[in-house]
Amino acid sequence: MAPRHPVGGRRQYRLIPPDELERRAREVLPADVFAYFAGGSGRGHTLAEQELSWRQLYLRPRILNDVSEVATSVSLLGHAASSPVVVAPSALHGLAHSEAEVATARGSSAAGCRFVLSMRSSSRIEDVAAAGPFWQQIYVLKDRGVSDDIAIRAAELGATALMLTVDTPYVARKAAGIPQRGPASGIVSALDNRDEADKRYSQAADLTPDDLSRLAQVSGLPVIAKGVLRGDDAVRCVEAGAAAIVVSTHGGRQLDGAIPVPYALPEVVDAVGDRAEVYADGGIRTGVDVVRALALGARAVMIGRPVIWALATGGAPGVQNLLTDLNDDVREALALAGCVSCADAGRDLIFRANF
Ligand code: FNR
Repeated sequence: MAPRHPVGGRRQYRLIPPDELERRAREVLPADVFAYFAGGSGRGHTLAEQELSWRQLYLRPRILNDVSEVATSVSLLGHAASSPVVVAPSALHGLAHSEAEVATARGSSAAGCRFVLSMRSSSRIEDVAAAGPFWQQIYVLKDRGVSDDIAIRAAELGATALMLTVDTPYVARKAAGIPQRGPASGIVSALDNRDEADKRYSQAADLTPDDLSRLAQVSGLPVIAKGVLRGDDAVRCVEAGAAAIVVSTHGGRQLDGAIPVPYALPEVVDAVGDRAEVYADGGIRTGVDVVRALALGARAVMIGRPVIWALATGGAPGVQNLLTDLNDDVREALALAGCVSCADAGRDLIFRANF
């Protein structure tokens, strides 16, 4: 029998490269909406470097391994997922598509990828919960009761984890802000319609590990800390009860000049050991990028903007196609690197000249 290609016999690329998806999204979205989704903070230096930093990691493929069966499945917080790719939380999908996060959740679920619902989503949690399994992202606001209530509501509606964003004591200023004519957030509409003088709905600048512990306690859910770039901070999160850590620069939207994720990832993986899961987020665009992150010790990765571009240009089926193709790309990259599973990708795959 002829050996089966890891992506099922197809020899030709079907994957629409994310830069092509981005180009198409730029055509269909109003200019201010595109700028809001695409932009970064400060001078955009971290944003500009994030994709490049993954590409600078060269791989040392293993050969003469039997890769006739390659699995991309992983276990995330005790639940099986068919892909190591998680859809990152991003705000206001209603600006990209009329079905908003409901469509994103549906497409993600159809592709076997976990979906993380932003607290600043256009869709209501109730509607997203009906579309498939999800994790709920949380920002701690000055009025902590608002955040706690969302965590409790998400848990009651079936969220299986909370993702607490820990890198946003203030929302960094950006050249392109939220388009004024955008729909209000379906979860906390007061967030977008608020009177600027009403400080209850701005970020808590005094966020501490106690907030993480409290959210775990009030919701009864595992908490993932998102936006960690140092081993010592990862340990503080784990000691406060975090079940997982996301190494992330918020897609280049918080501190401009922050260390690129691939450079921070090994330090966090080593500091955390087997006490929590570690995920990588930011600038990951190809199956090879996913394998790079797995090789550095991530259990899973998250992707943000490409999903928004897929939603804007193709709705739920567009999101499903992007994620299915990306997972095929991961399977092929694993096979060509000589790995039979996500866990099989180790640091020996990374060439260390400048690392
Ligand atoms: C985000 N991100 C984000 N993160 C978060 O924790 N809560 C949020 O509401 C948002 N909102 C948001 C809006 C937009 C338009 C973008 C682009 C990003 C950050 C997101 O979760 C993720 O960290 C990055 O998008 C990952 O980088 P890439 O894949 O977009 O390069």
